[in-house]
Amino acid sequence: MVKVDVKGCESFVKDEQFKAYVQKAMDAFDVLDSEQGAGNDFLGWKHLPSQITDGLINDMEAIRTSWNKKGVDLVIAIGIGGSYLGAKAVIEALSHNFAKQLKHKDAPEVVFAGNNLSEEYLAELMDLAKERNVACIVISKSGTTTEPAVAFRIVKQFIESIYGKKEASERIVAITDAARGALKQLSTQEGYKTFVVPDNVGGRFSVLTPVGLLPIAVAGFDIKDLIDGAKKAERALSIKDPANPAIVYAAIRNLLFKECGKSTEILVNYNPKLTYVAEWWKQLYGESEGKDGTGIYPASVNNTADLHSMGQFIQEGTRIMFETVLHVENARRSVVIESDDQNLDQLNYLSGKHVEHCNHMAELGTRLAHMDGGVPQIEISIETLDAKRLGELLYFFEFACGVSAYTLGVNPFNQPGVEAYKKNMFALLQKPGYEEATKAIMERL
Ligand code: PA5
Repeated sequence: MVKVDVKGCESFVKDEQFKAYVQKAMDAFDVLDSEQGAGNDFLGWKHLPSQITDGLINDMEAIRTSWNKKGVDLVIAIGIGGSYLGAKAVIEALSHNFAKQLKHKDAPEVVFAGNNLSEEYLAELMDLAKERNVACIVISKSGTTTEPAVAFRIVKQFIESIYGKKEASERIVAITDAARGALKQLSTQEGYKTFVVPDNVGGRFSVLTPVGLLPIAVAGFDIKDLIDGAKKAERALSIKDPANPAIVYAAIRNLLFKECGKSTEILVNYNPKLTYVAEWWKQLYGESEGKDGTGIYPASVNNTADLHSMGQFIQEGTRIMFETVLHVENARRSVVIESDDQNLDQLNYLSGKHVEHCNHMAELGTRLAHMDGGVPQIEISIETLDAKRLGELLYFFEFACGVSAYTLGVNPFNQPGVEAYKKNMFALLQKPGYEEATKAIMERL
């Protein structure tokens, strides 16, 4: 199971303080557990792992099989925010680092769109699509978000122009609300297979619904293992105990924020496959906690690369941050540094050592240096980076996020601030219904 170690914070906080914050986190756990807190109509994610049915898994695997039969080698997954980052995080974490470059392919390549409004991105996506056998998963809970809607209009027209309308309806799957929104209406009219984002699951908590699971399944990964891992975490974290890792994580990060002035949390990894797990985590914690004028700013670094860019700031810059290190105990591949007769690179002292041993020493050395530089260290560890452990980790972060946000005193499940930019964008684009806002914004320019 995911382990949380706070030894690297001991010199920054007093024992009584930690105990007091563990108590606050235990109280927040009760709020989450009783389902009586703010945003309690968005708690469907808590029981997703244990409640997922074989029927739903089979339906998703059937899409994979049918597209494989058609020879699909490129799946365009369209979505933004919570409708994109979970799938992207899992696919990156489980994929071969050079999957795109390897000649042998086991499964279609999944690429993402609708997470930006770059014209160049969409034009170049069409360059790629023209060379490949294409299918599409379009994901929007609301069914009205502009970025995915724009991308989908372009991808849909492309697929219809190449394969015809009937075949297009077999190559497009929509994941959206059960009844509402433009995407639902369009899907019904065009006869697309649809999957539902449950009403009581917010976007950033939806990785274990078809939002995350379908793209992961078509990319060739075992969603059953991912769900099994999450199930294990669901059971383990449901126990109220001061040693519950979600309670410990919620307690220490709130303590560092409130009592030590540490307002930025950097999620640190030492494996490039975890880059998008950090992006997913940033959305989860940023959108859940950053409101009402409070919240810890979630940032991330990818080490050891970023030690040579951000390392200076973390060691000696403004002392506002703590680090949470994602520690992976065992590498899944083995590369040993061999002895060299000439030793011109002077690396023979490492002969016989695994590269991962050097990686772990870099990690340990960095943590000690950063502690000396005034940066408290939390360690979150998993045994290895496989689907089961990843399922545990994702559920752990979701559950801990609920506990932490309630400890902080905010509603973890709303995101009122996301609307502000949309209102301005619609006013500037002169969307029907925004006439007054258009007039007002034009006067500001
Ligand atoms: O977490 C959230 O609710 C958001 O990030 C949404 O996932 C994001 O805004 C996309 O929304 P939708 O799925 O409705 O297109």
